[in-house]
Amino acid sequence: MAAKTNWYKEAVVYQIYPLSFMDSNNDGMGDICGIISKLDYIKELGATAIWFSPLYASPWKDYGYDISDYKAIHPAFGTMEDFDELIRECHARGLRVMMDAVFNHTSNEHAWFKAALADKTSPYRDYYIIRKGKKDKEGKLIPPTNWTSSFTGPAWERIEGTDEYYLHLFAPEQPDLNWENPKVREEMAGILRFWLEKGVDGFRFDVFNMISKVYPFKDDKNPLHFQKGVQYYVDGPRMHEFLKELNDKALSLYDTYTVGESYTPDEEHAYRYINEESGELDTIFHFEHLAADNIFGLKMIPKPFNLRQFKRGLIDTQLRYHGSGWNTLVLENHDQARCVSRFGIKKKYRYEAATFLAMITYLGWGTPFIYQGQEIGMTNTDFKSRGEMKDPVTHFIFDLAKGLHVPDSVSFRMMKGAARDNARTPMQWDASVNAGFNKGAEPWQCVNPDYKKINVSADLASDKSIYRFYQKLLALRKSEDTLIYGNTIEYYPDDRQVITYSRCYGDKRFLIVGNFSGVRADFIMPSDFELDELSIRMTNLGRSDAEIAEVLHLEPYEAILFEENR
Ligand code: GLC
Repeated sequence: MAAKTNWYKEAVVYQIYPLSFMDSNNDGMGDICGIISKLDYIKELGATAIWFSPLYASPWKDYGYDISDYKAIHPAFGTMEDFDELIRECHARGLRVMMDAVFNHTSNEHAWFKAALADKTSPYRDYYIIRKGKKDKEGKLIPPTNWTSSFTGPAWERIEGTDEYYLHLFAPEQPDLNWENPKVREEMAGILRFWLEKGVDGFRFDVFNMISKVYPFKDDKNPLHFQKGVQYYVDGPRMHEFLKELNDKALSLYDTYTVGESYTPDEEHAYRYINEESGELDTIFHFEHLAADNIFGLKMIPKPFNLRQFKRGLIDTQLRYHGSGWNTLVLENHDQARCVSRFGIKKKYRYEAATFLAMITYLGWGTPFIYQGQEIGMTNTDFKSRGEMKDPVTHFIFDLAKGLHVPDSVSFRMMKGAARDNARTPMQWDASVNAGFNKGAEPWQCVNPDYKKINVSADLASDKSIYRFYQKLLALRKSEDTLIYGNTIEYYPDDRQVITYSRCYGDKRFLIVGNFSGVRADFIMPSDFELDELSIRMTNLGRSDAEIAEVLHLEPYEAILFEENR
């Protein structure tokens, strides 16, 4: 079946975390002018769109994911004129622009929330979820339900001087919006139209599948739930209706692309969110494969890397949606540790692993998302103390661990490898002061001390340039419809070292093979491929066609793309 073509299916999205990308005015924080100065770098990599993590006005309690004005640019990033210039400069280079839509919650400093708290009769009160507390057996006031926030602790915050609480599924400074209120939905559609009118081409919806809650509210009685209440606020009953409404009132009026960041959606719902017929979202992110080195996706509790789990995450999502929707391919983002520093990968394999991961991920079925710095193999930071880490979530977890009597040294060791701070250190441009991020002002988040060795200039000058490898890979992908639209077929799903899948479209086929381990692995050519019909189209460690054989001894993190020529 011929796949329905669309620009976003052929796109490659580069994610920018604006605070840490490029600081043009030397105030320690990245900004829009800095981004503009690097657009050619992004374009030349082969990206065709940029997703900007929040650029809006925000008190930065969660670094922009707490928005205080959806229609204003944070002054540290620049002005609205700078943003208009950014759109023009992106479009002039053929780069589409995607904004982050953080619609589950606002900042507690948003004018709506302030008005809601200031006056009980304010119409803004019903923009949020405010409920009277309950009394426990001893008559003490307790929150309306026992739900916990994704950032640890209770999901309800008491409103000072009252017996009422407001719901926040994230930090207390991120009150949840009440999507049951049609005015809230109207506001959100209006915000989308505001940015679309400016020329924005798409949106990434932050924790989108938490906007519809199950009413009336109930306690979570399941003792096995670590995070209480998920069944009452994830994939809620009106999710599909709310998304359709955003489409009717905003998204479908423009040529947009949408991707939802989900809190592990139920399969049935996920299918509906992205079904091409349903008019909800174009794609969602899947992070199941990124839980293959931690327990239950709780990033701070590491476990030995499990390749079979990684494959189920990376590949099953491709198989699941063939013919119905579209997929995304992700290795990193601003919430994840650096990919070359996880999955059991040793430092000495940084180049091999960076190129291997790019091949096995981005030759799959879906739109590639690349996070700033991933294209030069930036690594996790060897943080020396808790104080060096700025992410509030890191500190919530440290506090939680302390409360559970986990020694600081233990929680620090765990957090170091998993903390979101690893993704948020400044981009490493060159070996000059602060990695060329700025001219020497102290960056808001410390620079990774490995910057003298790992930076864009050094990478580009090296024979083993990861950037150039990405460039080649993305160009190849773009040139082959099979690598974009072809269905994925997996081989040897239970193999614990090797990942293998093919892509086929019409009568054209490619085979992707990679050794996801630090020791040699044997790979046996699947029986439906003929050796004399194969050639090597891309390889990260220099294999030649002459070496094609029934059994291949793959080097650590070696990846090969075979093309079938019939
Ligand atoms: C998403 C964002 C994350 C943020 C959270 C709350 O998961 O990616 O950075 O902290 O939502 O908005």
